[in-house]
Amino acid sequence: MIKSIIKGSGSYLPEKVLTNHDIAKMVDTSHEWIFERTGITQRHIASDNQFTSDLAYEAALKAIESSGIHANELDLILLATSTPDQVFPSTAVKVQHMIGAKESAAFDLHAVCSGFVYGLTTANAFIKTGEYKKILVIGAETYSRIINWKDRSTCILFGDGAGAFILEAAESTDDNLSAGILKTRIKSDGQYADKLYCNGSSSSNDEDDRYIQMNGREVYKHAVEKQTSIVNSVLLSSGLTIDKIDWFVPHQANLRILDATAKKLNFPKEKIIITVGEHANTSSASIPIAMDCAIKDGKIKRGDVIMLVSFGSGFTWGATILRY
Ligand code: ACO
Repeated sequence: MIKSIIKGSGSYLPEKVLTNHDIAKMVDTSHEWIFERTGITQRHIASDNQFTSDLAYEAALKAIESSGIHANELDLILLATSTPDQVFPSTAVKVQHMIGAKESAAFDLHAVCSGFVYGLTTANAFIKTGEYKKILVIGAETYSRIINWKDRSTCILFGDGAGAFILEAAESTDDNLSAGILKTRIKSDGQYADKLYCNGSSSSNDEDDRYIQMNGREVYKHAVEKQTSIVNSVLLSSGLTIDKIDWFVPHQANLRILDATAKKLNFPKEKIIITVGEHANTSSASIPIAMDCAIKDGKIKRGDVIMLVSFGSGFTWGATILRY
């Protein structure tokens, strides 16, 4: 059978750092309040002349370099983002041009914070057709542009960044022992679309309603419940049990959601990759950034079994089990 193996990864965070103390000078909040409720201490913010494509480009370059393949060999580029540079063309085609991937197709994929798991699931399906051999999947966001910096309930939560994986088709055995994506599943439920949304500069907005709007408690409740259920369902379909997972790489929304999900799953905290403290919530970029950091730190090693799990606006959610 054909499996999608992770050939390389890369991530990029903009240079500018905004700490909780910096935010406390902008709105009525404190480092202590933010840290206690979310585990976040700081976030990275794109400079005025940096767009989502620029962040994606930096992460893609590193992924390409670590994979040892040439950009011209790519068949497809999938860019998960909810903060594209423009309404059109897609940010993916801009990145395609920047990296010089002349032979590939490229498109954006929009599933907000679940975008990267949606991207991996889509890329995996393309690879399993046998037609596509090398796919670049990127999660890249500039949430600093869609945050109302006067709204203390949301501006404390997000940051900018990008992460990328290169997937490659490999002839493999139909079991959980060889490297590659073992099982992946995505879901959504649009009845909750009004719990977390951003009208942005779309045709339906008015000037006062351009930025992120969130019902934090509802998001919290559904994030824990839906991430737990999809992890259990993907485990069941893979035939693996939770004790076989070496590392859990969840969407980095906030530490309390992460802790509560792990507790419900009875999963040990020391096996969770946590970067939310330093990066805050970078939406579709959070999982590839967290995983790339853990690879570079030497925590995640070849052969390890990894569970990725995400939850975001929509609501959308998903989980992927892979052997690195
Ligand atoms: N600093 C100080 N006080 C604040 C702040 C702040 N930054 N924000 C809100 N408050 C106040 C509120 O005004 C309220 O005051 P009141 O009691 O006088 O009315 C009080 O704190 C409690 O507000 P709540 O919103 O009820 O606070 P809660 O304990 O629910 O924590 C939080 C808020 C952290 C947003 C929580 O609901 C949460 O973690 N939700 C999940 C949201 C999330 O992570 N979203 C990310 C995007 S979705 C995703 O990626 C999955």
